[in-house]
Amino acid sequence: MSMAPLTGIGACVFDAYGTVFDHASAAACCPDVPAALRDRLSALWREKQLQYSWLRALQGWHVDFWQVTGDALHFALETLGIDDDALHQRLMKLYLTLDVFPEVPRVFEQLKAAGLKIAILSNGSPGMLEAAVQHARVGPLVDTVLSVETVGVYKPHPKVYQLAVDRLGLERGSIAFQSSNAWDAWAASAFGLRVVWCNRYAQLPERLPGWPDREIPSLAALPALLGA
Ligand code: LAC
Repeated sequence: MSMAPLTGIGACVFDAYGTVFDHASAAACCPDVPAALRDRLSALWREKQLQYSWLRALQGWHVDFWQVTGDALHFALETLGIDDDALHQRLMKLYLTLDVFPEVPRVFEQLKAAGLKIAILSNGSPGMLEAAVQHARVGPLVDTVLSVETVGVYKPHPKVYQLAVDRLGLERGSIAFQSSNAWDAWAASAFGLRVVWCNRYAQLPERLPGWPDREIPSLAALPALLGA
């Protein structure tokens, strides 16, 4: 994939979970989850959370991401043979104060200093996103936080990517969308956004419509790509 700078970009739109906020930090920070199960719990929780979002989008039975995340956690805990409602509550609370990936605040500062708008576009409910942004102390750097709740359907429905276009008032090709979720990167590309795939998890390319414009291992490489 080319590493040439992307030109003509007016705004950077970021996926939230996995891209800006580390969803695995909830279980990793919870001493009540047996150490040997933390990685499996995080992986199962995330996998089921995404499945439920896709299935609900297909079925037309939307509930917000807080509900989906809670349902997925119940499933994951049950799969691991853990029956503990108090633990469920603690983990859900930790989901509101996830770690921000360490490079993010500096990257946002650099992009902002270069005159780029910064937005978050996420499946997360407004309350979840507000809590995470506040905990990460990046609120003053983010121009717009966009939740799928506005359109009532989850990614990768095109309505979600259209929300960024409408709210930012820019052409699709003037928006750089960053996601570490390969399926999200591919879908945003198929929609017509310029896409930087932040491949933190060393995922393989998807075999779906779209193809990201650039691939980077962490967001630290983003400012250079955008001339910031
Ligand atoms: C989000 C999920 C996909 O933040 O990570 O939208």
